[in-house]
Amino acid sequence: MAHEEIKKRVAEKALELLKPGMKVGIGTGSTIFFFIEALKKQNALKKLEILCIATSAGSKKLLGDRFSFLDDSLIDTVDITFDGADRIDPKDFTMIKGGGGALLREKMVALASKKNVILVDYTKVTSPLAGFPVAVEIVSFGFEETIRRIKKAGYKGALRKGEMEKPFLTDNQNMIFDITFSLPILDPKADHIRLKEITGVVETGFFFNIPTDLLIGEKDATIRHIRNKESL
Ligand code: A5P
Repeated sequence: MAHEEIKKRVAEKALELLKPGMKVGIGTGSTIFFFIEALKKQNALKKLEILCIATSAGSKKLLGDRFSFLDDSLIDTVDITFDGADRIDPKDFTMIKGGGGALLREKMVALASKKNVILVDYTKVTSPLAGFPVAVEIVSFGFEETIRRIKKAGYKGALRKGEMEKPFLTDNQNMIFDITFSLPILDPKADHIRLKEITGVVETGFFFNIPTDLLIGEKDATIRHIRNKESL
């Protein structure tokens, strides 16, 4: 089955976990695009009366003006957040996120949420984590020095470029340095800690034990629902 169709089915399945009146975190990415489409459709049939918080300006725009929004300060606890991932290790639910550059807000909303539903297709499930660059959000001021320090710590990678080859800017006006790991990542926690110690690094794309529910769209279009026992 086509990849896009699998993402769409996972998104529709995930929507079953949403209840009217909830405070809902909305992630970022092409899988979440389908989730937002399904959410809008359902809301048009019967108003869901939910309050949303989007993890990116792009997702907020996609949601449009039919939803009410929570305050950006995250003063409220979020009931449930739906997001994608670039890679996930089902053994311990560690993820690589940030392919869309929204990692910081995604992590903040995830941590403020009682439940986190992660939507992926089978190609993203890998143990150990491998096969996707790890985004590191760095402040724009002094970015060359921060990159020098990241490289000095032993990491290879590249500054993410946006339009017209200019550095890509996150919604927080920061930059992204994408680290390429040539081998599977055996100790992501150690890498995360090492990177976070570098002044100028805001956050890494490693997410630890955040999902409460993992929905995997399989090749044959069935959907595997794994609940993270640690978070129950
Ligand atoms: C956005 O910054 C990312 O963390 C996304 O959640 C991740 O890249 C998944 O995106 P896709 O659904 O487009 O693969």
